[in-house]
Amino acid sequence: MAKRLIFNAFAMNSVSHVYHGLWRRDDTAQVRFNDLSTWIEVAKIAERGRFDALFFADIIGVDPVYKGSWDTFLTETVQIPVNDSFTLVAALVGATENLGLTFTSSILQAHPFDLARKVSTLDHLSKGRVGWNIVTSVSHNAAQNFGFDRIVPHDERYRWAHEYVDVVYKLWEGSWDEDALVEDRQRNFYADPGKVHRIFHESERYKVLGPHLTTPSPQRTPVLFQAGSSKAGRAFAAKNAEGTFIVSKNPDGARRLVNEVRGQVAAAGRDPHDLLFIQGMAFVVGSTEEEAQRKARNLAEDISLDGLAAHISRDLGVDLGLLDPDRPIDEAEIEGVQGLVRVFQEAHPGQRPTVRDLASAYALNAQVIGTPEQIADQLELWRDAGIDGVNVIYHTLPGSFAEFADHVMPVLRQRGLAQQDYAPGTYRERLFQGRGPRINERHPAARYRGAFTPARAAA
Ligand SMILES: Cc1cc2nc3c(=O)[nH]c(=O)nc-3n(C[C@H](O)[C@H](O)[C@H](O)COP(=O)(O)O)c2cc1C
Repeated sequence: MAKRLIFNAFAMNSVSHVYHGLWRRDDTAQVRFNDLSTWIEVAKIAERGRFDALFFADIIGVDPVYKGSWDTFLTETVQIPVNDSFTLVAALVGATENLGLTFTSSILQAHPFDLARKVSTLDHLSKGRVGWNIVTSVSHNAAQNFGFDRIVPHDERYRWAHEYVDVVYKLWEGSWDEDALVEDRQRNFYADPGKVHRIFHESERYKVLGPHLTTPSPQRTPVLFQAGSSKAGRAFAAKNAEGTFIVSKNPDGARRLVNEVRGQVAAAGRDPHDLLFIQGMAFVVGSTEEEAQRKARNLAEDISLDGLAAHISRDLGVDLGLLDPDRPIDEAEIEGVQGLVRVFQEAHPGQRPTVRDLASAYALNAQVIGTPEQIADQLELWRDAGIDGVNVIYHTLPGSFAEFADHVMPVLRQRGLAQQDYAPGTYRERLFQGRGPRINERHPAARYRGAFTPARAAA
């Protein structure tokens, strides 16, 4: 049987995540993002639909990169205000039983010892349902909020990320032996001191002695995600990630990318299928195609072009607000935009996109409009192109997830495109069926198992 796809409900602990402007509508709860009940409802819908996980993006700074300021980011609520994703995931543990809960944390924002301890705590409390999206923060302001004058150069950030994960791997995998916890009340012997180890980590940025303060949690290392697509980003994913988020324009683009990066995963000494590829997509569902198209037109009327242009300016590091929205963008001769123009031209041959065209095309990236059956047809093509799963992007909250859970998921299940039910065990065991709760032996974290026992450390 062909493999089933993984589904994440993709969100952000903010008013507006991707489809800016829609927060103003009456049929969305986005403005109530400070209210835990909003997210409990989203999580329960996701669990009812048997989504694999609820995945929260996060950022830690806002740059004045649209029309020379950050005004649009505030007036259009483009990912600001944004609350912390880890705190929200922690709050949702008690409201869910099976759902994976993935947060985003940048190497800038938390000391690795602190992150490792928090994650282990939550992995215990959730019985092994935690995922971590590792980001390096493409933002000057993020760097400036955490002690730097400006952004750390791109490849240097990835070197830092390698150093960062090395610390947390040692704490999660190596500090406590599997049998360190004895819990013998008669002998008054809780944990065996000979089996709890310091890690003696010393590198350019970090000096961490250990031991880890938390007993081994169900997964030890959480499920690791990453989204960088540059050379350094892909190399990092190939070595470290178990899931990578991609935003291909169409199944052919995804096939090329997946094949290329799977080759890199193998070159890093792992099985090519140790890394899962999760494509970002949005869906507009109708009981007929006409109804779906009507809904999509209605949503499009409320999408804010200015908000999208601000978002895309931030992602590209190019201020599109300083350009005339109706002039062809290739006249602007901005290096950063060329790749995007190419992607647009591949999808619309012979056209010269304007700033306005680009901003709308960006929003409509991998959007599927149709009946549940038509959506299933499209998802089959994506699956056959090699992707492993989908990040479902919302238009309205929780409406988009409810429609997908209640109308699309049953059809996907009938066709074997979605899981029938949650398999027992941890988040990792559900993603990689037939494997155990711990990260596999091919992953670099595994080399720290047993590495700090006195005999090994002295060798
Ligand atoms: C689907 C997707 C989700 C992302 N989520 C976040 C996020 O939540 N926070 C963040 O700081 N960066 C996020 N990013 C940015 C990436 O982590 C990465 O910094 C960016 O793609 C540039 O990396 P690169 O230079 O290796 O391509 C995301 C990127 C993609 C494609």
